[in-house]
Amino acid sequence: MKIFLSVIALFCLAEIAQGAFIQCKLSDPKLNNCIGDQIKTQWIPNLKKAYPEYGIPVMDPHFLGDVKVTQGNKQVGLNYTASDVLFYGLSTVEIKKVQLNQRKREFKLWYFNKKFIQLNSYVAKGKILLFPINGHGKSNITILNSDVHIALKYDIVQDANTKVKHVKVKTLDYMTKPGKAYMNFENLFNGDKYLSKQINDVINQNSDELLPSFSPGVEKAVAQSWLSTANSFFSKIPYDELFIKE
Ligand SMILES: *[C@@H]1O[C@H](CO)[C@@H](O)[C@H](O)[C@H]1NC(C)=O
Ligand SMILES: *[C@@H]1O[C@H](CO)[C@@H](O)[C@H](O)[C@H]1NC(C)=O
Repeated sequence: MKIFLSVIALFCLAEIAQGAFIQCKLSDPKLNNCIGDQIKTQWIPNLKKAYPEYGIPVMDPHFLGDVKVTQGNKQVGLNYTASDVLFYGLSTVEIKKVQLNQRKREFKLWYFNKKFIQLNSYVAKGKILLFPINGHGKSNITILNSDVHIALKYDIVQDANTKVKHVKVKTLDYMTKPGKAYMNFENLFNGDKYLSKQINDVINQNSDELLPSFSPGVEKAVAQSWLSTANSFFSKIPYDELFIKE
């Protein structure tokens, strides 16, 4: 059944791609609403599947590889490496607003998500909230009620030989305003389970303050990964096939 359904989803996507990938007209005065509806109904719910023919990997969970946090400030003086980061939650985001500015070649997107979960292995040495830690294991950072804003700048480039035009994304910024965060780092003190539990409780009581120390690394990794995913997608669909012809 599952295979059957995903074959149908792929079939629909392929059908759409033949005419226009985004079922909107660029001249539509309500273009932003149209693109927003497309993202809501066609893209977001399908992010649990990969579409290799369009250069899109599975986005929920989104594999981010390794993320490093090396920094010192009052709360966190820490070398922290998260490896094999899996970022869950993109297939349930609620699109709030979409803004395409064709003249400036900018695209902006606002969304809200009730729950993101970041799971990974970690190695950490240094200080969190003045506690000297030295541990490794699994960690779970769960963030509730995030407001996210994505802004990208693009160009439309023409292939010198084929004359086919493609969108090329130049920059992608990813900004989040998290609500409540929960963090759990297994084995923070190399084997001392009691202390690890105690400190995790303290971390959770202060997670809103601590999160800004951990999230910039992840945000940067997300932005970089999406920039390359966006470009691999746009390289496969000519600009003229993105929208419905006028
Ligand atoms: C983090 O790593 C750097 C480079 O290896 C080192 O100089 C620094 O002392 C380390 N910081 C902590 C808190 O362990
Ligand atoms: C991660 O933490 C959240 C919040 O504490 C919890 O609901 C979830 O079950 C955890 N997930 C895993 C895989 O540990």
